[in-house]
Amino acid sequence: MTGRRVCVADFEDEARKVLPKSVYDYYRSGADGQNTLADNVAAFDRWYVLPRVLRDVSTVDLSVSVLGHTLSMPVCAAATAMQRMAHPAGETATARACRAVGTGMMLSSWATSTIEEVMSAMTASPGDGGVLWLQLYIYKDRALTLSLVHRAEKMGYRAIFVTVDTPYLGKRLADVRNRFKMPPHLSMSNFTSASLAFSEDNYGNDSGLAVYVANAIDPALSWDDITWLKKHTHLPVIVKGVLNGEDAVQAVEHGASGILVSNHGARQLDGVPATLEVLEEVVEAVRGRCDVYMDGGVRRGTDVLKALALGAKAVFVGRPVLWGLACQGEEGVTEVLELLKEELRLALALSGCRSVSEVTRSLVRRVDFTSRM
Ligand SMILES: Cc1cc2nc3c(=O)[nH]c(=O)nc-3n(C[C@H](O)[C@H](O)[C@H](O)COP(=O)(O)O)c2cc1C
Repeated sequence: MTGRRVCVADFEDEARKVLPKSVYDYYRSGADGQNTLADNVAAFDRWYVLPRVLRDVSTVDLSVSVLGHTLSMPVCAAATAMQRMAHPAGETATARACRAVGTGMMLSSWATSTIEEVMSAMTASPGDGGVLWLQLYIYKDRALTLSLVHRAEKMGYRAIFVTVDTPYLGKRLADVRNRFKMPPHLSMSNFTSASLAFSEDNYGNDSGLAVYVANAIDPALSWDDITWLKKHTHLPVIVKGVLNGEDAVQAVEHGASGILVSNHGARQLDGVPATLEVLEEVVEAVRGRCDVYMDGGVRRGTDVLKALALGAKAVFVGRPVLWGLACQGEEGVTEVLELLKEELRLALALSGCRSVSEVTRSLVRRVDFTSRM
């Protein structure tokens, strides 16, 4: 009998107990020394919230418009690969949960369910919310890459989040030690050939995924590829993996409809700043020309509040969704998302905000560590 799950950390504790070690390690790990992994979470503690009082917070409206779609809250599911390792229903369970909660899901190119299956699961579920976006890796094979985009367009996905921080896979030590590869009954379902579906058996003495990326993903990507992608899709393109103002300006100049400030959950280059640290620089560089989103380390409602105050339009959560899936499939993901929603509602109310639009920069102040010494 497990205890009551009252915060995201409780879901992780339980997930650790139920998942096979190599799967838990794959989901949890960051790159190299995992300094950025810890800092993504710790960064939120470097900001105070400065609440306002006596503002009638008897109702709080959490809804927000993201890429032209109204969501019940500014918290969405980030792309995380291979969700059927956490639960047999995998991405289809996440889609149903997002629909029930009324929020958005970004489907990984490396999903263990197809683009079509996940859309069917979402649209066949009760609830009037929910929207799907496709996360795209650009393969060396451009025709294959575009086939993913066109399948997503055909199925009614609403945007493409193109990941730009993975020319090679970051070195995740646990995956190297575990010689990580997918359990044999699963594959990256959007691909038919065994080599692209990550279901071959010859990945050697390394992280199988690192070998896969080196073989399949194009390390020669440049800003021209954003122009190329935009030319081939009518969907909005959001650049996922920007960590500074100069790249944010490039993204705007290359026609991005949005920027996702992300360090890939600290799984690529260790030693980069926590995403919360660079969010404001990106927001300032963009000057309102497109939306800015963030992910990385969001675990509580107050984290969401701080990211919104620093200029994010919405945030994404990666691992919390996986912990929910591992604990209890669709219900577990719904629980995690509802938990974050209620924590955010309380955080807004206690800081005197009646809606997301009332969350402004003056609501947070950086903790001054020098004055404490
Ligand atoms: C297990 C795992 C798999 C991921 N797979 C992908 C992926 O396929 N594509 C991608 O762009 N990002 C991927 N990410 C990064 C997430 O989209 C997101 O940036 C990150 O998880 C946010 O940090 P958080 O886990 O601290 O919330 C993955 C992250 C994790 C933890």
